[in-house]
Amino acid sequence: MKLWGGRFEKGVNSLVNDFNSSIRTDSRMYKEDILGSLAHVKMLGRQNIISNEDSIKIAEGLETILKRLENGVIKINEASEDIHSFIEETLTYYIGEEGKKLHTGRSRNDQVTLDTKLYLKKYLIDIANDIISLQETLYKKAKENIYTIMPGYTHMQKAQPITFAHHLLAYCEMFKRDLSRLLDCYKRLDEMPLGSGALATSTYNIDRLSVANDLGFASITLNSLDSVSDRDYAIESLSNLSMIMMHLSRFSEEIIIWATNEFNFIELSDEYSTGSSIMPQKKNPDVAELVRGKTGRVYGDLITLLTVMKGLPLAYNKDMQEDKEALFDALDTVTISLRTFNGMLDTLKINKETMKKGASMGFTNATDVADYLVKNNVPFRTAHEIVGEIVLYCIKENIAIDDLSLDKLKEFSLVFKEDIYEAISLTTCVEERKVLGGPSSSSVKIQLDLLLKSIESTKEALQCLK
Ligand code: ARG
Repeated sequence: MKLWGGRFEKGVNSLVNDFNSSIRTDSRMYKEDILGSLAHVKMLGRQNIISNEDSIKIAEGLETILKRLENGVIKINEASEDIHSFIEETLTYYIGEEGKKLHTGRSRNDQVTLDTKLYLKKYLIDIANDIISLQETLYKKAKENIYTIMPGYTHMQKAQPITFAHHLLAYCEMFKRDLSRLLDCYKRLDEMPLGSGALATSTYNIDRLSVANDLGFASITLNSLDSVSDRDYAIESLSNLSMIMMHLSRFSEEIIIWATNEFNFIELSDEYSTGSSIMPQKKNPDVAELVRGKTGRVYGDLITLLTVMKGLPLAYNKDMQEDKEALFDALDTVTISLRTFNGMLDTLKINKETMKKGASMGFTNATDVADYLVKNNVPFRTAHEIVGEIVLYCIKENIAIDDLSLDKLKEFSLVFKEDIYEAISLTTCVEERKVLGGPSSSSVKIQLDLLLKSIESTKEALQCLK
């Protein structure tokens, strides 16, 4: 049965039916569709737009359908045009003529955006909770590695020594921003669109605020044309999801590099690695590679919707039906990526000795040699020059700065004294960087405390949104 057969003389071409249908994608919003309809029909009863008996009968019918869909007694019929049509058709089949009153004062145009918003509200909170779980794993790993020295890089060249905790906490900051963006996006999408009708509201005395209240929205949308044609909330969500993937992808890249035989900073657990069908020695970081790969897919989803929307006149256009495939794909991809990545991180083994050895090579303490001179009154530029010459000498001799005797060091500058060795040891290089945000244990402990506080306050904020 079609919801709109009246003005047609011929049936629609079967290919067009298939082309037009969105049920294979939007059927996952069946619950949101029913909850939206329930709030709508109760309001119709309260406002005397339909009789109280009809309102109750329709509501009971909808509740039965929801139960039967959840326990598998009813299956969604993919011959229906979309989930909205399916629920309405099933309702009328179940309760008869009264079912046809459900759509009074409503259009599928405001209904579809309502359903999507309800669905997104729940999903964004789930994703936020997955990010928090990842932060908790990072917190745990960071706490275990406050003194695990590793080389820090710029340009992928060894730069200065840091700690593994410091490195992990950098990602926590990215995820903190991701969480704050998700919550911010949630606030903007928390406006209830129902009552906007097809584009120009309706002539019935509907009460939009009570529907918003019933469905747990903070407020209602203010312009009906915008309401039915707005997909900013989906684009904003996709943009946030893209950023989350970009962060996971950068992290994945590091994990792939760290797991190479050349680096050997970490070892992935067997549970989170795969083998090769031909090379028996292989243990591949497929999870990290897939997260990196799937990032492209989520960016694609964002670009899909931006492109769908770019030339659309007001108000609703069928092009917009394309939003859900992209949105759901991104939500699913981010969810599985976050969860799998978290497991991989939680189970990886850290080769502390190799990390430390990596930091002791490549002149990561050269800045500290210069700083030593500066603290002994040598101008920084001069100090930089002197240490440059020392490094050049060491490269030729294939030794570290620490290997030079005091006499040799004095040939470069008479300022050097016995205390230079202590001043440029890896531990000093790390521990002296006490500036807030830096790698020293004192600074990292503050970062850890602040992370814990931010995890707690985000959890509270999410609790309030439920
Ligand atoms: N299935 C459509 C969508 O996802 C909603 C239906 C609106 N259709 C219409 N003919 N106005 O956007």
